Amino acid sequence: MGNISAAVSKKRLEDDFNKIQEFTDPLLPYTRRAFSPQYYEARKWLAQKFKDAGLQIRVDPVGNLIGRLGSLDGPSLSMGSHIDTVEAGGRFDGIVGVLAALEVVRCLRETGTKLSFPLEIIDFVCEEPTIVNLSPLGSRVMSGDVTADMVKMAVTPFGDSLSDAIKKLGGNSDRIPEVRRDTGNILGYLELHIEQGPVLEKARLDLGVVTVVAAPCRAVVSLVGVADHAGATSMSDRRDALAGAAELTLAVEKIVNSPDIVQESVGTVGSLTVSPNMVNIIPGCVDMTVEVRSTVPEALIWAREEIESSLSNLALRRGLEAKIEWLQIEEPVTVPFEMQSIIAEAANEIGISVMHLPSRASHDAAKLAPIAPVGMIFIPCMEGRSHCPEEWADIDDIVTGTKALGQSLIKLDEHLSTKV
Ligand code: GLV
Ligand code: MN
Ligand code: MN
Repeated sequence: MGNISAAVSKKRLEDDFNKIQEFTDPLLPYTRRAFSPQYYEARKWLAQKFKDAGLQIRVDPVGNLIGRLGSLDGPSLSMGSHIDTVEAGGRFDGIVGVLAALEVVRCLRETGTKLSFPLEIIDFVCEEPTIVNLSPLGSRVMSGDVTADMVKMAVTPFGDSLSDAIKKLGGNSDRIPEVRRDTGNILGYLELHIEQGPVLEKARLDLGVVTVVAAPCRAVVSLVGVADHAGATSMSDRRDALAGAAELTLAVEKIVNSPDIVQESVGTVGSLTVSPNMVNIIPGCVDMTVEVRSTVPEALIWAREEIESSLSNLALRRGLEAKIEWLQIEEPVTVPFEMQSIIAEAANEIGISVMHLPSRASHDAAKLAPIAPVGMIFIPCMEGRSHCPEEWADIDDIVTGTKALGQSLIKLDEHLSTKV
């Protein structure tokens, strides 16, 4: 069996990471939201890198950047992730998976290692919730979970229709159905990612093999009270929407911490829009987001019901009008055991120690799971921090992860070729 580990170049990886971090909003590092000016620029750079590595490149109709090695027809192996970030996000979330896949391609070519199947590396468009209820956009369209109509109705936070934004990337929203892959088209998908949690670092282990990906369920809530004078309105006469939102926020925290709910569920109120939002006006209206995540489906159902009943109780007591709409209800994704074994064996073969662990964050891999066998590899990140400018992964850990990704790909290829 081939082994490309010795060819993995720390220098090339370091150069690529140093370059891509320059594509950021200068006032808010490291921000490269999907469809922002920095994103289009980074995409141009990445497409050239894919070409330089000898890949045939294309942008599919939703805007995924795809580099292909080998025959242009037929099912392929696949690797990838995303290069978009959250606001003031990090330099590694998603980016590791794309740049490591690129390095694996360079190593395959350099060492003359031939795969039995074509290989695609994919930079999935808009993995982060820039388009709130459609993301991860590229991987969801690929698995048929987001339709052409949903794409056509959406707008970006930068003022474009999503169709126009996709067009600027080289896509075409009139041809969205062509993005869809049938089961069997992607023979196996591998994604390298930073853990975004502290488990590997604490265990002093190099690599994680993901067992299950937690599901996020996301809702928008609106609370409407009465805007009024902050001095002249007595406490008993108020219908304060923000006080209601604060109560709901604490209720979410309590619900996911409840002993009734399976351990390790999490819940977050990440965004509040208050109006009129002035120091001397009682808030008349609040729009907020609520998110709960878990690896256990029953825990998610229970948490959603508890949140809904807390909301209606507090609204009644406080004289508020309340609405909740679940925009995204997902199921946790179990990583196929076969894919976990391939990754663990591949890592062991090149002397890398692994542990199996769940993913608390969500990923493109989870969205592709309905149509393809997926596998995920984690590397440690500093203090487990992510979605913040301090997010950091050591280059040596990235090199280790890249070696494991390459070896897992070779092993997967060999495994599949003995099956046919
Ligand atoms: C992905 O960034 C997530 O929110 O899990
Ligand atoms: Mn992220
Ligand atoms: Mn990510």
